[in-house]
Amino acid sequence: MKKARVGILLGMAILLSFFFTGDRASGYYGDMVLNSKAEKRGMPPVVFPHWYHRAEFKCKVCHPAIFEMRSGANDIDMKKIIIDGQFCGKCHNGTISWKPIECARCHSGTPGMKTGVLEGFPQ
Ligand code: HEC
Ligand code: HEC
Ligand code: HEC
Repeated sequence: MKKARVGILLGMAILLSFFFTGDRASGYYGDMVLNSKAEKRGMPPVVFPHWYHRAEFKCKVCHPAIFEMRSGANDIDMKKIIIDGQFCGKCHNGTISWKPIECARCHSGTPGMKTGVLEGFPQ
């Protein structure tokens, strides 16, 4: 009983720490912002490090297999990512890469960022 409660508290603390310790608060030039729904639903915008992924994977791994190659053209939500394993959840599933429970790793934008290529940040 007591052990279970400590476990729950620890779990909550870990989750909270992900919310508040996003280490990439503003993003880099060439990152993509996805914010058609996130901010409206109370989450910081998603900053997707396109360059990073482009170096790891060939374009055709993602385009058009996973994402339509146009900013804002993909109707993404958390059910599709976590439950259905679509979009980011194809890889961020605890197998190919980390699980999609670390909210702030993706939701690392600042309020007001618009969907599209992030510009005006130094490399
Ligand atoms: C692997 C990356 C990733 C992680 C981790 C992640 N999200 Fe998201 N999330 C996205 C993307 C991409 C979108 C779509 C953004 C948009 O277009 O507005 C999104 C959208 C959302 C939305 C709006 C759509 C909806 O489903 O209602 C909410 C709310 C949300 N995320 C909450 C969370 C929470 C809470 C967590 C942690 C438990 C989390 N996300 C973790 C990538 C991620
Ligand atoms: C890991 C997956 C992934 C890989 C690999 C990838 N992309 Fe993307 N790409 C995305 C996502 C996600 C978006 C944003 C889609 C959205 O906003 O809905 C995007 C958007 C784009 C866009 C649209 C930009 C705009 O302003 O509309 C272009 C062009 C593009 N990618 C080209 C490429 C090319 C070329 C490569 C290979 C060199 C590549 N991508 C590799 C995931 C990927
Ligand atoms: C084709 C597989 C794939 C897809 C699809 C994918 N990712 Fe990733 N992503 C990775 C891998 C692999 C890494 C490297 C981290 C690791 O080694 O686990 C990574 C790393 C990241 C990082 C950390 C980069 C850094 O600077 O350290 C973020 C943030 C991220 N992904 C967000 C997203 C978001 C948001 C989406 C959906 C829009 C997405 N990813 C879709 C495979 C993918």
